[in-house]
Amino acid sequence: MTGILEHGAKLTPPGPSRAATFRLLHHLVADRLRLMSSAAEGYGDAVRMAIGPKTLYFFNHPELAKHVLADNAANYHKGIGLVQAKRALGDGLLTSEGDLWHKQRRTIAPTFQRKRVAEQATVVTEEAHALIGRLRAGIGHGPVGLTDELTTFTLGVLGRTLLDAQLSTFDSIGQSFEAVQDQAMFEMVTLSMVPLWAPLPKQRRFRKARRALEDVVRALVAERDGRPGGSAGEDVLSTLIVSTRAEADPEVGRVRLRDELVTLLLAGHETTASTLSWTTHLVGQHPEVAARLREESLRVLGDRDPEFEDLHKLSYTTQVVQEAMRLYPPVWILPRLSLAEDNVGGYHVPANVDVVVCPYTMHRHPEFWTNPTVFDPDRFHPTNAANRSRYAYIPFGAGPRFCVGNSLGMMEAVFVTAMLARELRLITKPGFEVVPEPMLSLRVRGGLPMTVHEAN
Ligand code: HEM
Repeated sequence: MTGILEHGAKLTPPGPSRAATFRLLHHLVADRLRLMSSAAEGYGDAVRMAIGPKTLYFFNHPELAKHVLADNAANYHKGIGLVQAKRALGDGLLTSEGDLWHKQRRTIAPTFQRKRVAEQATVVTEEAHALIGRLRAGIGHGPVGLTDELTTFTLGVLGRTLLDAQLSTFDSIGQSFEAVQDQAMFEMVTLSMVPLWAPLPKQRRFRKARRALEDVVRALVAERDGRPGGSAGEDVLSTLIVSTRAEADPEVGRVRLRDELVTLLLAGHETTASTLSWTTHLVGQHPEVAARLREESLRVLGDRDPEFEDLHKLSYTTQVVQEAMRLYPPVWILPRLSLAEDNVGGYHVPANVDVVVCPYTMHRHPEFWTNPTVFDPDRFHPTNAANRSRYAYIPFGAGPRFCVGNSLGMMEAVFVTAMLARELRLITKPGFEVVPEPMLSLRVRGGLPMTVHEAN
């Protein structure tokens, strides 16, 4: 039937049952990595895929990725998944576009410059000591859930570096945050087909969590205003308070502040925790790598804490983290939406279609990586990395939307890997099947149970 339904008509369009829809969506989530890998293997560097009502243009070559992400970035907005996550995250830096994004990036980027990140080294080492202490308590006992411990670590670091606050002192912030994160994931998976007002327990939990996070933000702002210099500082929270107060409508400013903070916490903690989960798992499986890491850590650091200037001296440790992010890039897919039609390396892309670049498949492209599935940190030794296309390796993305927190994320990952190597040896629980789970970040399914031992 075509045309407009008459008032009072009760016809329901045909379609799969709710259970069948969820089963389909579940399969899509479970098999997304395989879907992308077999498309790349079967069809090459440019693939056009029809998935349900959508057509996806998938580019898996560094030059094509460069065109979409950098050279003609102005023709692409954030795409499938991120658009949907926006309903949970609002217009934070990760999901905003156009003038608003430019303004936000100009405000936030300076607070993540190397000099500022260098000043945070002590916070990272203090939180790393706390992490190692918690892990140490597991020696001689059953496995510890490593991903959870790492998440506590990364949230601890972000709370202190971004907000100068102990997030753990706020009752229920963990739960509220988890609810928003769950919702962002749910929105991505269901493509926002379930209205926010739907009386599902999940939606109620989400709305409650957003309110609770607003209370937290209000408390943080009040505390900051009550300090002797008020909100005049240069850190992330002060910078955001000043910038959002400049909004003509205070309500708009309040919502923007909440969305910016939740976005930064979300974008910054899960990615870094995933990087560290995969790195620690791979090191546990490769005793020769663990031995070289320990040697470097003891040689460079002895028994003192790492400082920012040590980063370039911890070169093998950096290579190990880079290689873990090659095999398991935390941001495994970069979705975009074309605004106008485009010519991507000779391929025609219509306007208003979904385009993706997939770091997971690009990092395993056989033309750019020999034995791509083998874990070999020496690939990132400067002599081996010199001739590789820069866009064959994009764990932090590329072009104007390049990760704003990359220096902080790398410092966290390298410091923790070096400090762990010096003190402990972690081994994934025998028999545990390690399966990558492509969620907001590329997680280890079921967390990562690891047994803890002294390093030597
Ligand atoms: C090892 C850890 C990390 C990895 C692998 C990572 C990866 C990425 C990637 C690939 C993008 C680009 C997304 C796209 O183009 O669609 C991105 C963007 C972003 N990241 Fe990270 N990230 C990490 C750590 C962090 C940290 C610590 C923070 C902040 C505290 C952060 C905040 C952001 C933000 C706000 C964006 C959006 C930037 C924009 O669109 O202007 N990330 N990240």
